[in-house]
Amino acid sequence: IIKQLKAWEILDSRGRPTVKARCELESRAVGIVSVPSGASTGAAEAHELRDNDPARYRGLGCRKAVANINGEINTALAGRLLASQQELDTILIELDATANKSRLGANAILAVSLAFARAVSQERQYPLYQHFADMQELPLRTLPRPTINLFSGGKHAGGQVDIQDVLLVPAAAQTMDEALAVTFAVYQSASELTFKKYGTRSLTADEGGLAPPFPDTETMLADAVETIEQAGYVAGKDVMLAIDVASSHFYQDKLYHLDHEQLSSAAMIERLGNWLSRYPLVSIEDGLAEDDWNNWPDLYARIGSQTLVLGDDFLCTNPGRIQRAIANQAANALLLKVNQIGTLSEAAQSCQLARSANWRVTISARSGETEDNWLADLAVGWAGDQIKIGSITHGERLAKYNRLLEIEADTHLPLIAWPTDGSQNNHS
Ligand code: PGA
Ligand code: ZN
Repeated sequence: IIKQLKAWEILDSRGRPTVKARCELESRAVGIVSVPSGASTGAAEAHELRDNDPARYRGLGCRKAVANINGEINTALAGRLLASQQELDTILIELDATANKSRLGANAILAVSLAFARAVSQERQYPLYQHFADMQELPLRTLPRPTINLFSGGKHAGGQVDIQDVLLVPAAAQTMDEALAVTFAVYQSASELTFKKYGTRSLTADEGGLAPPFPDTETMLADAVETIEQAGYVAGKDVMLAIDVASSHFYQDKLYHLDHEQLSSAAMIERLGNWLSRYPLVSIEDGLAEDDWNNWPDLYARIGSQTLVLGDDFLCTNPGRIQRAIANQAANALLLKVNQIGTLSEAAQSCQLARSANWRVTISARSGETEDNWLADLAVGWAGDQIKIGSITHGERLAKYNRLLEIEADTHLPLIAWPTDGSQNNHS
């Protein structure tokens, strides 16, 4: 039984407002969470409610979302006996009564959904990851393999290069602890290399990736390989790469405006296939734009046997879109961000759908994050194959990495085996 819901505005890692909420149960158990916010958002995401008052935080204030929790949502839920997360989430969805949660705000709704989950885990005296696992009736077997932001571009770094992320995948690491130690070594060599080559250390991107002025994407990829080797690892064996192309953000008039060229969808697919043959890429996220649906099956046919074809903006953690992508053989992996859909139950449904098609699942943070660490518990509880948090700098990222280390120390769960099916390419 919920006793009281309470919310307030806090600032995220970009200094922009977001929502923090507290759920108190009659049993006195309390769950407090904060919710993140994206910058390279998908058009099909649930609606984040902002105040639109230009005089305050350039319109980004969250006082309306906060007021919805303290007012209408609290009134609807206080004193109510709730048997499950699903029941709570259904009430929230019905109360909002819009298709994209725009009335009460997905930020308000998700904060309540998560705060309730954390309060119930407190009441049961279970770790949060265990509670998340129970929610999907999953056994706790493995820790997700981290994919860690090394270089940044696109919307997260001022667009000095078009693609958004080059990530490290510590493929040979056997534990989370080892994966992070490898990452640290590569990071050090990356900051040395970028300083030498570009005269800058530039830890400036939103997720903490290095963002020097790469002349083009291939240089960014080649620099990543060089950095791995300089750190003493074999690129393509010890450490693999993943990219988030985030191509929706340079797709205009049916053309991809990439590296000073204009590519048709077919040419873009060829470009990705070419990168795949030359760089050790095990995952390619949003290789095509979110509304280039017709060409995703061709992309998948071209590269799907060699790498993960991962949908972020393309799928928006939305069960309908995932269903359609499965039916059209358009991808083989889901990037799961709960705030793209707005409740835990719907995100769980998306996760289960992806699994039913034998897809891989990457549980992901947002570029605007908070110091909260529930994402780590979610990735473990929901048996994520990968987790994407950002770089190993910036406190809001470390909150999650450090929580993963804590879970590893508590549970001794092994890091998920590598390679997972379909995610190994023959480059080595
Ligand atoms: P976002 O970026 O949080 O700004 O959407 C993360 C991503 O694109 O994966
Ligand atoms: Zn993305």
